[in-house]
Amino acid sequence: MASMAPDLSVSKMSLEDRIALITYGKGAMPPQQGILDAATISGIAAYIEEFRD
Ligand code: HEM
Repeated sequence: MASMAPDLSVSKMSLEDRIALITYGKGAMPPQQGILDAATISGIAAYIEEFRD
């Protein structure tokens, strides 16, 4: 994939871990801290659950 980002529909990460990953970044994924506030990050992390089968 051009962005190198994983398919979120197959993510098995817990909600808590996903919030931390979005906040602090990991590997090629840039941190969103200072870009998105904590409430927005929590909302996105919960929304990603809907991508799962
Ligand atoms: C607000 C924006 C973003 C959100 C909500 C988001 C969300 C996520 C989540 C939830 C994961 C974990 C998937 C899993 O393994 O279960 C992830 C991983 C990753 N994302 Fe993002 N992402 C964002 C922006 C980006 C951007 C801009 C890039 C690339 C320029 C990116 C690249 C990656 C990569 C490479 C990983 C794999 C990290 C690793 O396991 O080493 N992400 N992202």
